[in-house]
Amino acid sequence: MFSAKDEAITIRPCPRLEGEIILPGDKSISHRAIILNSLAEGSAQIENFAPGRDCLATIRCLRALGVSIDTKRPPDSNTALISGIGEDGLKEAADVLNAGNSATTMRLLGGLLASQPFLSVITGDVSLRNRPMGRLIEPLRLMGAQLWGRGRDSFAPLVIKGRKLEGIEYGLPVPSAQVKSAILLAGLFARGNTLLHQAIPSRDHTERLLKQMGARLKSQGNSVCLSPLSDPLVPVSLRVPGDISSAAYFLVAGAIHSNARILVRDCGINPTRTGIIDILLAMGARLKIHNERLEAGEPLADIVVECSELKGIEVGGDIIPRLIDEIPVLAVAACVAKGKTVIRDAGELRMKESDRIATVASELSRLGARIESLPDGMVIHGGGLLSGTEVDSHFDHRLAMGLAVAGLVARGETIIKHAQVTQISYPAFWQTLRQVIQDS
Ligand code: S3P
Repeated sequence: MFSAKDEAITIRPCPRLEGEIILPGDKSISHRAIILNSLAEGSAQIENFAPGRDCLATIRCLRALGVSIDTKRPPDSNTALISGIGEDGLKEAADVLNAGNSATTMRLLGGLLASQPFLSVITGDVSLRNRPMGRLIEPLRLMGAQLWGRGRDSFAPLVIKGRKLEGIEYGLPVPSAQVKSAILLAGLFARGNTLLHQAIPSRDHTERLLKQMGARLKSQGNSVCLSPLSDPLVPVSLRVPGDISSAAYFLVAGAIHSNARILVRDCGINPTRTGIIDILLAMGARLKIHNERLEAGEPLADIVVECSELKGIEVGGDIIPRLIDEIPVLAVAACVAKGKTVIRDAGELRMKESDRIATVASELSRLGARIESLPDGMVIHGGGLLSGTEVDSHFDHRLAMGLAVAGLVARGETIIKHAQVTQISYPAFWQTLRQVIQDS
């Protein structure tokens, strides 16, 4: 069902998909838990932090800024022990900071470093150096920040001459949790309150954790008001819930395979992230949520999904930020569903690790899908048969995993090139997939 050669992975259809998935920790929550606890006065232990390269980039940058972070890796569960710097403050790094492939690292640290009294330069890999940074630079400059980027302040590397900032009132022009969080991190050290308005809400992990750590933050409707820190943040130890963005591959696989039952344990179900569940249910997925509970201010649950008869759907509007990272695998579900699926209002997909409208459309078309790209989404004519062939991840982790799910239901062999890019968010993905593939 499955073989690996060099960087490529071959997937073949299998008679049955069954098993229990233990997820990696949520990437978005892990970044925030590491950054905010680095600023706190005292130590915190973060269990089950996301094991992928993105969160390791955040840890590497914070260490370079003087924070002591110890990590335990498997076979122990992923744990980070952080000694927060509190009133001592971060220190100027001796070299350029490297965020790798991680926009969350670059944007969140960009906001934080704009408010710190030293010089920082932050760069990333070729994909990250081509992602938009103007959306970060613009509001930070309104706060009085001095920062610059390549290409007339559009791209990284970023040069940041940190200084004391002023709080602002700002309406976010795009629903970006990274930009919102960057402004809040800058606002912690600013003079005066920071008030943010969002036309469409985005993931709220920063707000939840800041409140728990004693920051004076109020969320009302789609607005957030933060007062600057009067005392250092209080450290919070926590166990990070499983990543719903990683769960999505198995939820879709379970729903589209003709003989499947998959249980996903301890999955984060923060309502700002559960768009994929809402859409799968609306498409007719046999999906049930059990054992709902709260850990460290974040809701989580176990989810069971079984083979289903999906139908096409229209996806757009406010739900898009709640499932933006899951759209590549949702497109796979739409290929199998009966009828037409239209995805709109998702132009942000073009700004991700790859241009996900172009790459999803081109790679799924290779497998025989009937899919048209739109400026802000795609139209997928479902119900046709997929046929395996060679496809490319375009070095985009979410595309690699989405194509693997397509390969499970395609005829013949699907060879995914550059498949090891899953290291970015889900290093154990191929191993976990192998465990649920049953030969009979
Ligand atoms: C993230 C926010 C989203 C998401 C990304 C992680 C975060 O990006 O796509 O994978 O952790 O804040 P935007 O803020 O650009 O929408």
